[in-house]
Amino acid sequence: MTLYAATSNPGKLAEFAAAAQPSGITVLALPGLEAIPAPAEDAATFQDNADIKAVAYSLAVPGLLVFADDSGLEVMALSNQPGVHSARYADRRLPDGSNPPASLSGTLDERNNAYLLQQMESLPLSGSRTARFVCHLALARDGEILLRSQGSVEGEILRSPRGASGFGYDPLFLFPGLNRTFAELSREEKWRISHRGIAFRNLLQQCRLL
Ligand code: IMP
Repeated sequence: MTLYAATSNPGKLAEFAAAAQPSGITVLALPGLEAIPAPAEDAATFQDNADIKAVAYSLAVPGLLVFADDSGLEVMALSNQPGVHSARYADRRLPDGSNPPASLSGTLDERNNAYLLQQMESLPLSGSRTARFVCHLALARDGEILLRSQGSVEGEILRSPRGASGFGYDPLFLFPGLNRTFAELSREEKWRISHRGIAFRNLLQQCRLL
């Protein structure tokens, strides 16, 4: 069986492909992905966004099994923000129409992390800093969703970044079981416990039913 990944992130593709290999499933990049107009990921939930992508991209490659993922960080004390806005948290127009402070600098990941810490400054010092990474996957063929899966991992948001690997919010996300942030884990260590690893292993299991 071959699954086509609707992701332009080469790191994610390599992880999906390596994880699928032992089950005899091949994961390949979706052919011509760059030329396919990207659908708007404007749904209110991760699952709906994953569905939107899986449906849109599978319609562009008739007959192929296409999967898409949507993931992000939820901080409980911030009413599960940044949530579906995780990718562009620091640049997002706020519900009242205003923009977040323009004072943040650096890469988008650095700005997102700095903005998250700013948002958490106003929380009580003794309050919970619990957060979770969430990943939802959808597998579709010819515009029809065949399978869905999800994974999540709970941790804590540190007061300053630690570690140099990974991406996104990894340097702020402490995994208490190992007392290390996701940016202090090797790729393999992170994949074993991460939201994306859990969700993908679950999808692979379900693929046996197809
Ligand atoms: P995507 O939907 O997987 O591309 O993720 C959207 C955003 O969520 C990313 O741009 C990151 O900011 C954040 N995110 C998702 N997964 C991770 C992760 O494993 N580590 C750190 N940040 C993540």
